[in-house]
Amino acid sequence: MSFATNKRLMEEGDTVLLYVGYDNLVQMQLARGSVHQTRYGALKHDQLIGAPYGKKVECSKGWICPLQPTPELWTLVLPHRTQILYTTDISMIVFQLHLKPGSVVVEAGTGSGSLSHALIRSVMPNGRLHTFEFHEERCAAARKEFEQHGLGDYVTAKHRDVCAAGFELDKEADALFLDLPAPWECITSASHALRQGGRICTFSPCMEQVQRTCEALKDHGFTDLTVLECLSRPFTVQNIKLSYVDFGDQTEITTDKKNTVDKAAPPCKKEREDCEETEVKMEDQQTRSDQGSESWEEQTVSSGGQASKCAVKAREFKTGAPPLVMQGHTGFLTFASLY
Ligand SMILES: C[S@@+](CC[C@H](N)C(=O)[O-])C[C@H]1O[C@@H](n2cnc3c(N)ncnc32)[C@H](O)[C@@H]1O
Repeated sequence: MSFATNKRLMEEGDTVLLYVGYDNLVQMQLARGSVHQTRYGALKHDQLIGAPYGKKVECSKGWICPLQPTPELWTLVLPHRTQILYTTDISMIVFQLHLKPGSVVVEAGTGSGSLSHALIRSVMPNGRLHTFEFHEERCAAARKEFEQHGLGDYVTAKHRDVCAAGFELDKEADALFLDLPAPWECITSASHALRQGGRICTFSPCMEQVQRTCEALKDHGFTDLTVLECLSRPFTVQNIKLSYVDFGDQTEITTDKKNTVDKAAPPCKKEREDCEETEVKMEDQQTRSDQGSESWEEQTVSSGGQASKCAVKAREFKTGAPPLVMQGHTGFLTFASLY
């Protein structure tokens, strides 16, 4: 019963997620007398029952932290029976399907139930998820998980081939989601299941699937067709060096032109050393660490067809940079409305 409500204390039967370390999260179901082995030593379930969620628990070689599951965390630890949807796509699906407490939402196929958990949370406590799966064992496993997680009252999990037999829902659904190899084959029954103004979303890895789905959607009177691809774009911290021209002290330009011209010219070695020495003395240490360090660099510049060496200043600083090649394609999300 650990998904349905926010709880302070762990109880027998709860699905608990153990934070064992960075990138190391495992799930377990609490049962009196059981022992769970972690890399930090054995953990007795009895140690957890009655203890608060989120509080560190000492094992013989270190600590672990028991967490209450959320759909986002469940997606990271669930047993994979199929390929699953991840939170980047799931968040866009929930948003674009306009789900809210009280909504009725339909899903096919159920797969490993990754999306199902997020859909149920969005429509709880007075809405409902109808989820369909044509693989019998997968459907049974998902149904068992929903019960174990205390979500049985908010979901109907049915074993059915929706392309052959349809959804058997008549204008009841506010939203409908399809993660199937051939979503275009069940757009007719989807249009019967949705109410006027209902939203549909299909997930397909290939553009050819998207094209066929869009044609079927248009043929059945769907409008506002939009295709999205969700990519998460991680920025990494990098040291970069940028050169810039030193035009000298700007106040001197108006007061002493000769002096400015001299200053703008490439400094000789002695001048450079003098200049660097003065700057280092004057520079406040805090400012240096915030803005990065400066250095002189020789660069070749060409003017009037002639190349000459010139000293430019370069500043090295830390910045966030995105990857040059975007990885992480999962699939395209096609959204539409039925009026
Ligand atoms: C990729 S999985 C879905 C994963 C799911 N969205 C998740 O996040 O866990 C696709 C599922 O659709 C099921 N499926 C395929 N064709 C179907 C059909 N015609 N009717 C019902 N289920 C179907 C497959 O058995 C499979 O379990």
